[in-house]
Amino acid sequence: MIGVIVSSLLVITQTACVVPEEAISKGNIIGLYGGYEVEPHSIPFQALLESSDEYGDILCSGALISTNYVLTSAYCVYDLDNVTVYLGVHNRSEIDSSVQTFVATELTYHADYGFEGDYIVNDIGLIKLPEPAVLTSTVQLASLITRADYESNPNQGDINVTISGWGRIGYDDEYSDVLLAGQRYISPIEECASSDSLQLDQYICFPFKKDGTDVEGETGDTGDPLFKTVNGNRYIVALLSTVETDDFEADTNVGYYLDWIESNSDVKIN
Ligand SMILES: *[C@@H]1O[C@H](CO)[C@@H](O)[C@H](O)[C@H]1NC(C)=O
Ligand SMILES: *[C@@H]1O[C@H](CO)[C@@H](O)[C@H](O)[C@H]1NC(C)=O
Ligand SMILES: *[C@@H]1O[C@H](CO)[C@@H](O)[C@H](O)[C@H]1NC(C)=O
Repeated sequence: MIGVIVSSLLVITQTACVVPEEAISKGNIIGLYGGYEVEPHSIPFQALLESSDEYGDILCSGALISTNYVLTSAYCVYDLDNVTVYLGVHNRSEIDSSVQTFVATELTYHADYGFEGDYIVNDIGLIKLPEPAVLTSTVQLASLITRADYESNPNQGDINVTISGWGRIGYDDEYSDVLLAGQRYISPIEECASSDSLQLDQYICFPFKKDGTDVEGETGDTGDPLFKTVNGNRYIVALLSTVETDDFEADTNVGYYLDWIESNSDVKIN
């Protein structure tokens, strides 16, 4: 019997906060429903969020938008005493000394978060870190969509985005150990018009593909950042939420909330 020693050391090669799409490995298709494992630390603004309430453990993602604040969905902070924030994680089972860990208690969600009819509205929240994050090769700040970009295309229709998270890799499966990502196309908002009286300004729109080839977020993916890449720079345009009709999925449109983000954090937005 020959023993095989598998090194669990991660070789860190990414040093910049801007990573070209090609740096993301496309080889390992294991989850986010159609996604793949990313190159470790290639999305260095992604925060792993863990908490628990009376119903059990909660796993979410967020994005580090300043050294003091993590942007996430309201769902991931609502009615919780504290959230544990991990920065610089690739594999959730390998939380070592390179990972920055915080137990945050200053949790904010939108004052109008909740249900309107059957649908979740204003699903956006912020976590203030108890002390500032330290920027390193594996922990970097995210950029948000600019105001000019938002105004020129309010629902970000007809662009491709990347979604990344540690959610379940299939219905009823385990959460993913490693950070996964997938590409999705945001449709023009008209394609999400529905008979329900959904107020669409606050969402971006993904009609369901009937052939099942879409990348889809699962449980544990709430708060995942959806970002686009322009000239090698990444901009967060949306956060994964859980709004679904029979025909489409709608996620939180970050551009719509830029003023809210600015007035509830220390981030300055162009
Ligand atoms: C975090 O919240 C949980 C659940 O309410 C509580 O049991 C725990 O003591 C809290 N931890 C800290 C460090 O505040
Ligand atoms: C994550 O880390 C654990 C502990 O080192 C390891 O057993 C597991 O195989 C890793 N997962 C992946 C997908 O690499
Ligand atoms: C989005 O990605 C698809 C698949 O790679 C590509 O065919 C399409 O042209 C892209 N659309 C935009 C608007 O970039």
